[in-house]
Amino acid sequence: MIAIVAESPTPDEPSRDIYFEIKKRGLGVRYLPIQRLSIEISKDGVVVATRRGPLDASIVLVRGLGYVVDFNTLMRRVSTLRIMERTGVVTINPVTSLLLSRDKLESIYLLKNAGIPVPPTVVTEDLYYGYKTAKEMGKIVIKPIQGSRGFGTMLFEDPEQAFQVMRTLLITKNPLYLQKYVEKPNRDIRVIVIDGRPIGCMYRISTSWKTNIAQGAVGVACELTPELEEIAVKATKTLGLIYSGVDIGESGEGYVVFEVNASPDWRGFKQATGLNPATYLVDYVQQIAKR
Ligand SMILES: Nc1ncnc2c1ncn2[C@@H]1O[C@H](COP(=O)(O)OP(=O)(O)O)[C@@H](O)[C@H]1O
Ligand SMILES: [Mg+2]
Repeated sequence: MIAIVAESPTPDEPSRDIYFEIKKRGLGVRYLPIQRLSIEISKDGVVVATRRGPLDASIVLVRGLGYVVDFNTLMRRVSTLRIMERTGVVTINPVTSLLLSRDKLESIYLLKNAGIPVPPTVVTEDLYYGYKTAKEMGKIVIKPIQGSRGFGTMLFEDPEQAFQVMRTLLITKNPLYLQKYVEKPNRDIRVIVIDGRPIGCMYRISTSWKTNIAQGAVGVACELTPELEEIAVKATKTLGLIYSGVDIGESGEGYVVFEVNASPDWRGFKQATGLNPATYLVDYVQQIAKR
């Protein structure tokens, strides 16, 4: 049996695509909110339990660990999945990689360390360091250290405005993730990589500097080049991901990777390219299931 796990009580579109693709191939599949996965430890052993009894999944597709989630809850969810991994369940993406890509600091470090071009970035809890950075960088982007879909990402040209926001962020326990604004055309590039292979890419064209589909960008299929392929595959591998959505900007000095998404939404990608990533992903799942 294959389980799909996420936070939402109802599956989002990629989860549904995966669900139906697995079903189509005659394999057992179940969608489960992560809140309903319990661990029971007794004299008889360790069981991953659901309301309907023990979960006998051999593969778990993790589509999310939660969005508005406190540290204790996140730790509980991560530990639950790690215990499953220790008992031999294959998690896709692997839990460690899910956490790495969720953390914009550790992931940008790893990308940089692998020789992948990334925007100049400063991450700090020191307001005065942040202020100095805002003055030096000029146009800066402030991002939530965990976040997606462009939510909460802000652009500042005035260091004084940035200062006031940074101060407020720190008071509310949000470390500062500051990035030099990379001048780019009115678009970025999203490459979907599955099992080491880029399956396609699209431009995300927008009137906003934030080119997320969730921010109103429109997806248009683009041509994969060897350079794009190399960057996207390397970035995915660096974070240990089996599949990903890589966000790439076209700067004056060449490509820069903004981030690597471990649970990419692919509604825009499906529309733009006519490709359904779920078919490629389930090809991989089927391969694993046979082992
Ligand atoms: N440093 C930057 N310079 C220019 N544009 C940026 C920068 N960082 C992010 N963006 C734009 O904002 C979008 C969202 O940023 P990203 O880092 O991918 O975070 P999210 O997790 O919210 O998608 C990117 O796709 C890109 O268009
Ligand atoms: Mg992004």
